[in-house]
Amino acid sequence: MLFEGLELVSALATLAACLVSVTLLLAVSQQLWQLRWAATRDKSCKLPIPKGSMGFPLIGETGHWLLQVFSKIFSHEALESYLPKIQLVIQDTLRAWSSQPEAINVYQEAQRLTFRMAVRVLLGFSIPEEDLGHLFEVYQQFVENVFSLPVDLPFSGYRRGIQARQILQKGLEKAIREKLQCTQGKDYSDALDILIESSKEHGKEMTMQELKDGTLELIFAAYATTASASTSLIMQLLKHPAVLEKLREELRAQGLLHGGGCPCEGTLRLDTLSSLRYLDCVIKEVMRLFTPISGGYRTVLQTFELDGFQIPKGWSVMYSIRDTHDTAPVFKDVNVFDPDRFSQARSEDKDGRFHYLPFGGGVRTCLGKHLAKLFLKVLAVELASTSRFELATRTFPRITLVPVLHPVDGLSVKFFGLDSNQNEILPETEAMLSATV
Ligand code: HEM
Repeated sequence: MLFEGLELVSALATLAACLVSVTLLLAVSQQLWQLRWAATRDKSCKLPIPKGSMGFPLIGETGHWLLQVFSKIFSHEALESYLPKIQLVIQDTLRAWSSQPEAINVYQEAQRLTFRMAVRVLLGFSIPEEDLGHLFEVYQQFVENVFSLPVDLPFSGYRRGIQARQILQKGLEKAIREKLQCTQGKDYSDALDILIESSKEHGKEMTMQELKDGTLELIFAAYATTASASTSLIMQLLKHPAVLEKLREELRAQGLLHGGGCPCEGTLRLDTLSSLRYLDCVIKEVMRLFTPISGGYRTVLQTFELDGFQIPKGWSVMYSIRDTHDTAPVFKDVNVFDPDRFSQARSEDKDGRFHYLPFGGGVRTCLGKHLAKLFLKVLAVELASTSRFELATRTFPRITLVPVLHPVDGLSVKFFGLDSNQNEILPETEAMLSATV
């Protein structure tokens, strides 16, 4: 008992130290980034530099730019057109996982999957498989160093981040040029097409630099968060076979329990997915209990009162999504994984607007939330209908919260494909099918 208590205290202390370090690192990088821009002021000129923020290190204000130009990318029509492609990428991936005789590191492979989804579906790049693998590795190097102190020394994280970004931008430029030249054979408009078109409509031709920044920003926003949620989804389906079975029952009732081997492109439509109420509850519950992002930062624009204290204008504040979910009085047995809490009969999230915010809230709410939910739903449908999967380790891994929530050392799982009669497909057959897709 005493040892368990000590372990808990030490885990909490480590977690607190990690959070404080990351917050400090973020704050210091942000300040140094601002100083870096202030230092570029031309002292021979009397005029001040423009007011405003320079955004985050490396990515600057591209998030804001993205927000302004194009929520069109995530409109209902756009999502409907991405859906068959997302389904195909997921089916392809699950087939590859089942054809492996060894267990899969789910977190690592989920990162690869969301990267592939962003590059192939959102951006519509037809990069050869080998180059995509290389780009993914460079991208990982970029992400690992994105929150480095801006100290440009050999072997520093900052230098590695900058180098990775340069390689990425070269790869993206090549892909963008090829895409702009080859417009034939396209049956849908991807996010990059929409981005280019909508900027033309606003009388502004986008420069190559803007296109590269925009595409990198899209991948950045989609990648780690969606991979984290996908891994948590798989982990919870493994932990709760009754939930998986209930999901299968719902799919069976809708005639969606199809077997492996068939790409079934177009089987799923947005309205079909919306009609799957239990699936919606499962995804919501995964996002409540395993919210990928801890919270967000804001600058106070106007002094306000909170619990009898003033929070002065100009302060930086953080809102915590995780604490909100943990302490919201509306959730019964808050630590229990219970998708039915979101059922129509209980609707625990309906009491109050600010108890459930996995995608943030207010004007800076996540732009890609419908796309992320769509992706998770398709993944759950495909997992439930075409795969059997089992934990390849004795116990479930521990969870870490930084930089996004994920299992320490990934999550080791063995996948088996199922045919239309829900019988297992041999890995060799899966490998053959996988090669022919
Ligand atoms: C499960 C997956 C996801 C989660 C949990 C998530 C969560 C969030 C959260 C909490 C914020 C707000 C941060 C803040 O308050 O400062 C945010 C912002 C944002 N997200 Fe997501 N996100 C996910 C997937 C995606 C995807 C797939 C995309 C697009 C491809 C995306 C695009 C964005 C963008 C552009 C913003 C910035 C919005 C702004 O600054 O106004 N997200 N996301």
